[in-house]
This record gives sequence, structure tokens and C-alpha cells, in this order.
Amino acid sequence: MKQASNYSGSKMPGIIETPSSETIKVRELHPTFAAEITGVDFRDVSEEQFAEIIAAMAKYGVCVFRNTGLTDEEHVAFSQRFGELDNIRRYLAEGRKPRYNLYELFDAGNLDQEGEVLDPDSPRAHNNRGNGLWHVDSSFNPRRAGFSLLRACALPPPGHGGNTDFADSRTAFDELPQDLKQELLTHEYVGAHSMAHSRKLGSPAFFKDMDIFSLPLHRHKIVQEHEPSGRMNLYIGTHMHHIEENGAEIPGSWELVQKLNDHATQDKYQTTVEWHDIGDMIIWDNRCVLHRAGGGTFEGKYKRDLRRTTVHDDSPTAWGVNDEKSAWPAFIVEKHKPAA
Ligand code: OGA
Ligand code: MN
Repeated sequence: MKQASNYSGSKMPGIIETPSSETIKVRELHPTFAAEITGVDFRDVSEEQFAEIIAAMAKYGVCVFRNTGLTDEEHVAFSQRFGELDNIRRYLAEGRKPRYNLYELFDAGNLDQEGEVLDPDSPRAHNNRGNGLWHVDSSFNPRRAGFSLLRACALPPPGHGGNTDFADSRTAFDELPQDLKQELLTHEYVGAHSMAHSRKLGSPAFFKDMDIFSLPLHRHKIVQEHEPSGRMNLYIGTHMHHIEENGAEIPGSWELVQKLNDHATQDKYQTTVEWHDIGDMIIWDNRCVLHRAGGGTFEGKYKRDLRRTTVHDDSPTAWGVNDEKSAWPAFIVEKHKPAA
């Protein structure tokens, strides 16, 4: 079960033991997280095998499955086994139909409505640049996301980039400098997250006139236990706009935002997943890893069609410190025209 790694599971700090896997095979991709899983036939995943996948997700945070053979409908149906799914209704400009017919599929690719490569100057292309920065899906929502399941439907030719990168935010918490760790453990810092903020960071000139506060921000504690593993996690990323304590922004909050994001995304906490074939799928747990789209020479040239389902978190901290009646932000990129 262990290849390309000097670590055994038991050497990982505080990590739970993998149950003896009977039906899946695990190949570790990094010393502290992420694995490639084989032995799954997606047409027929038994309850027992599904439980093994859930256990692998708790331990590794990122699991890669090759050649799943899943259709859009099967991708959605499989995702529903993880919990209640988010949908894209609130992002669609009036009357627009979902790009791929199913409201549960988020479009992470670079295709336009006609199925051609997106114009790199289109609002959506500018929007997508934010995905190239380290983030956690849906941290800007009142109820955060648990799992994301991202599946390849078209890929650029090899050598043109388009990988997906991950960072281990549990180990990043474990290895914080002692004084900073102590500060985070003694104060109840809350991150205020905004999708508009990360869009601005991804393409500053294009979004320069956008008012961050035109959409509601949502708040989640920075240090939280990752329930499935019992390990602590840094819940941060590019959507985090500022840090609060007792409802007020703390002094030096932006410096701390940057310090935490820089710490957690050091090379030593990263792994890169290359997409090989159509049907490849990566599942990650937003409650314990950060991710970003890798970029590359495919941009503006080759199709990269990736479709994602997003599972609502159902852990006790799912709603962070937000009102469950709070409005969900709907960032509709088509409303943004290029800056004059
Ligand atoms: C996503 C995402 C990264 C990628 O779908 O949430 O960030 O590589 N995708 O496209
Ligand atoms: Mn994402």
C-alpha cells in the first residue's frame, strides 16, 4: 500500500489508522497527505467499499481515481452518497440554463457556451483566474463545503499544464511556529470570506471597480478540528478577506491572512496531480486541504473541461459563525464588464 513515500501511516502526526482495506488499493502521493486509489468499479461501489473510500478521504484529504468511466448523471449520483449537494442556480444570470444540463455540476473548465475555448478576455476567463490561487471551495458561503468531486471531460495535450495542486492544511497547522500556534489556540480568530475578494486578487485590473462589500461575507473559525480525522486544521485560503475576533477586525489582520496562507502553501506541503485521461476524478475534502488550478500553456488554446460537484459540509462547524438564514452570495460574473 505504500509507495513513493518514506513515511508509514503511523508516522503521520496524529493521523488515524487506515482500516485494513480489503477492496481498494492506496498509493500515497506525498509524505503527509493525498493518495491515488485503485480497485474501484464506479458502476458498482458497495457500501463496504464506499466506507473504505470515506476512511481514505479522512486520512488523505485528497484521493485520485483514474478512468472512472462516470457520466455526468453518474457523477452526480455518486456524489450524493457523500451528502447533500450544492447547486449553481444562484450563479446563473436570469434565464440561463446550466452549462451541462445538471444544476449540481459546477463548471471549472475553460469552454464557452458554444463549447469552444473561452476567450481569455471574457469575464468568465477573468473569473477563473481566481481558481489559480490557493483556496477552499465555498468558504465564502454561510454553510461551507465538505467534499468536492472534480472530473475530467476534456484535457489539453500532455505538456501544456492544467494540473491541479493541493496543500495539506492539517500538517501546516501542526507545524506552525510555536508562538503563532499559541496565538491561534488562545484567540478565537474568525476568517471573513468573500468570493469577490478572491476574484479581485485573481484579476485585479478587470475587477478593480467591484465593491467587495456588494456581496455578503461569511465567517468561519480559522482553527477547527477536522471531524473525520480528529486532527486540527487551518481553514484559510484566498477567499479570506480579513480576520476578526469578537466581531471586530483584529489589528494587522491582512498581514496575518498573508502569513497564514504563505505558511500553509509552502512547497513542502504541496502535491500536484496531473490529469491523465478523460474520466479521471479527484475528490478532496475542503475541510482539510487547499487547492488551486495549475495554469499552463493550454490557456486560450486547448480545451480543459472539468466538472465538479460540491457536497455541503454536515459537520458541527458547517455553518461557521453565520446565521443559517443568511443570504448566499451569488457572484454573477457576466455582470462585470471589462474596466474602461
Ligand atoms: C475547482 C477548482 C481547480 C482546477 O473546481 O474548485 O478549483 O484545477 N478547480 O480546475
Ligand atoms: Mn476550487
